[in-house]
Amino acid sequence: MVPSFRPPATRPIPGSYGLPVLGPLRDRLDYFWFQGAEEFFRHRAAEHKSTVFRANIPPTFPFFLGVDPRVVAVVDADSFTALFDPALVDKRDVLIGPYSPGVGFTGGTRVGVYLDTEEPDHARTKAFVIDLLRRGARTWAAEFRSAVDDMLATVEADLNKADSAPASASYLLPLQKCIFRFLCKALVGADPAADSLVDRFGLFILDLWLGLQLLPTQKVGAIPQPLEELLLHSFPMPSFAIKPGYDLLYRFVEKHGAGAVSIGEKEHGIDRKDAINNILFVLGFNAFGGFSVFLPFLISEVGKAGRDGLRLRLREEVRRVLGDGGDVGFTAVREMPLARSTVYEVLRMQPPVPLQFGRARRDFVLRSHGAAYEVSKGELLCGYQPLAMRDPAVFDRPDEFVPERFLGNNGEKLLQYVYWSNGPETGEPTIGNKQCAAKEVVVATACMLLAELFRRYDDFECEGTSFTKLEKRQLTTPTPS
Ligand code: HEM
Repeated sequence: MVPSFRPPATRPIPGSYGLPVLGPLRDRLDYFWFQGAEEFFRHRAAEHKSTVFRANIPPTFPFFLGVDPRVVAVVDADSFTALFDPALVDKRDVLIGPYSPGVGFTGGTRVGVYLDTEEPDHARTKAFVIDLLRRGARTWAAEFRSAVDDMLATVEADLNKADSAPASASYLLPLQKCIFRFLCKALVGADPAADSLVDRFGLFILDLWLGLQLLPTQKVGAIPQPLEELLLHSFPMPSFAIKPGYDLLYRFVEKHGAGAVSIGEKEHGIDRKDAINNILFVLGFNAFGGFSVFLPFLISEVGKAGRDGLRLRLREEVRRVLGDGGDVGFTAVREMPLARSTVYEVLRMQPPVPLQFGRARRDFVLRSHGAAYEVSKGELLCGYQPLAMRDPAVFDRPDEFVPERFLGNNGEKLLQYVYWSNGPETGEPTIGNKQCAAKEVVVATACMLLAELFRRYDDFECEGTSFTKLEKRQLTTPTPS
């Protein structure tokens, strides 16, 4: 007898948006204050006994600003994949949710990252970025090593002169300087040292530029609650506040990154102004923003007190591969499976871009581990990666940090459920999808940072975003096996 396959009957998506104004306000207060983002999604999934449900996502602006906060939340590994399917979802202007900061922040250009795959300029701008990355690969590792060198020299000096006990030195600013400098050089071919204003203020301009775009969607916690809700979460931030800084960076890229700009113009047929605005967005938002969030997660996770066993094994792996004088680079880190698995595990536990959005192109059936839901054309799906990548149907001990999780054949099979790049880790960014153009280079760069730390130090320890111990290398290299 041939078994018959019957697809599961669809069920209505549970949850409601509540009363106008009050429902969104309640969800917004839960999201920012009473529950926090993770508990917001966890609590609703438990309440509705479903990993697909309706909710309002902040920001919730006054209705006349036309930002509709109603979403279909998806928080399991199965349903999340709908967000990666260009046939199902439209990614037009939904990079950070139903609210889009607007072209005032990007010199008047709708940059590629906000374009849907069906818009012709998407393919053009993505191919341009992929080209910049390919070109940058030649100097990427060397520029990264040199910038890390400066960063660690600063942190070591700060740690030595720390007069507090126990000694500690924050690595945040030195790390941001490192990221800014190496990205400008490797990605744009422009050395910030060529322009003293950019050299001194460039990264702070980017921080402010990013902050103004993202503020309405983030909890800041620096001012009392009612003020934060009224002042920061109730209307879009004005782009004119950052225009002089943006213009400074624009001129810097135009002059010192002329080679990169002309690749956009000549090889991809992108208008000069749009090429520069796209370069600035990828440099500032995707790359600088992404690494500024992710690398601190990585350093502090590996450097946590009590992780000595992991650090010992990483040190042995790094030194075995590098031998006595080897340089950290793309080839070397390919041979460091534990470093790579650790990087994946940090990306799984703390994805730097936790939310993904996509608007249903048509009515379709959304599958979620055996359940099925009807999604209507125009509804906005909102995926929350931190829960999807801790889906107990896929991962053992899902809430535990298990650095060796992705080792071996079985470990590698789990990579299809690692979604940090807006696509499975086994997938490939192309001009036809919306997966992060730098998927490979981000993982390799993170491995290089670990390798550089263990090449230099026998051990290190962190508390939050500060180093509390950096033990200079004294131990000898293990003999290659
Ligand atoms: C830790 C660093 C990074 C993280 C976490 C990250 C994450 C992401 C995510 C989640 C998306 C999809 C956003 C969406 O549409 O929902 C994305 C897209 C993108 N990323 Fe990254 N990214 C990082 C670094 C970079 C770097 C270094 C570059 C380039 C130099 C880059 C270039 C892009 C581009 C061009 C897209 C848009 C893809 C498209 O429109 O098809 N990213 N990134």
